[in-house]
Amino acid sequence: MDTNTRPENMERITTPALAEAFIEEQVEALRAQIGKEKVLLALSGGVDSSVVAALLIKAVGKQLVCVHVNHGLLRKGEPEQVIDVFRNQMDANLIYVDAVDRFLDKLAGVAEPEQKRKIIGAEFIRVFEEQARRLDDIKFLGQGTIYPDILESDGVKAHHNVGGLPEDLDFELVEPVKLLFKDEVRVVGKALGLPDSMVYRQPFPGPGLGVRCLGAITRDRLEALREADAILREEFAANGLEGKVWQYFTVVPDFKSVGVKDGKRTFAYPVILRAVNTTDAMTATIEDIPYPLLAKITERITTEVDMINRVLYDITPKPCATIEWE
Ligand code: XMP
Repeated sequence: MDTNTRPENMERITTPALAEAFIEEQVEALRAQIGKEKVLLALSGGVDSSVVAALLIKAVGKQLVCVHVNHGLLRKGEPEQVIDVFRNQMDANLIYVDAVDRFLDKLAGVAEPEQKRKIIGAEFIRVFEEQARRLDDIKFLGQGTIYPDILESDGVKAHHNVGGLPEDLDFELVEPVKLLFKDEVRVVGKALGLPDSMVYRQPFPGPGLGVRCLGAITRDRLEALREADAILREEFAANGLEGKVWQYFTVVPDFKSVGVKDGKRTFAYPVILRAVNTTDAMTATIEDIPYPLLAKITERITTEVDMINRVLYDITPKPCATIEWE
């Protein structure tokens, strides 16, 4: 039987009751597959890996070892949320790896977007591999592969842009949501008790803020980007746009412009706002952010974020622009 093809008669998981049935069935299947062995999982905090983690915790508890790699390119509060939800609330075995300096040192001076992506992908695998080698007797590798990953690529998550783990680490794969579409993964996540902010999270690229801190990443611009992004998300949530707009974020380019603050001339970076709607990310339209909200976001970013003296609003659809800037 081809286990990578969704059976034609498979019912779409749209309700809590259907999600419960799926969870029950998977928990049983996972227990049968895993037995008393251990499972390793790279837990980014994204919807897919979080749902797989929650399923595995329900099925095999402490036999699951989650590894959360903080590569320094996550949004504000994300590593803390992963630790809070999985270690504190779900009592999972969670290894938190602070790899911020490693990633930022490797990325220093690298301006070419694809090169940046390759470095982030390769370093991620290296860090994960180091953790895997430290742990004995791991037999299984959990993965948050979902059905579109199988349909669109060769089943490898898009953010693993380079290869995979070395061959001597030959784990057997555990992919409990590989036949589900994204909306179904969310329904299952909700039924597993994950917080809404995790379950309904907007898409976030694997290379994270790395592709939004344009050109060669510097720590100060990256911090400014993280703070500006947090303000945008806060304001969208406060104004009922969270969960309504498909993807929204800020970008910090690597050029400065002149401004004035407290009677003094400044020479600082702009922040670009982007908010788009789409169904498949192949084309996208612009969210028409109400003007008073734009003004509020601009006011907050320019007063609260260091090194920023200007806010721009990108109103270009896809095509001819892409959603991300790099
Ligand atoms: P673009 O910029 O191509 O983006 O219009 C389409 C969607 O893909 C996301 N994206 C990425 N996701 N790794 C990812 O995992 C990447 O390198 C990457 N680049 C873009 C983007 O955020 C949007 O949702």
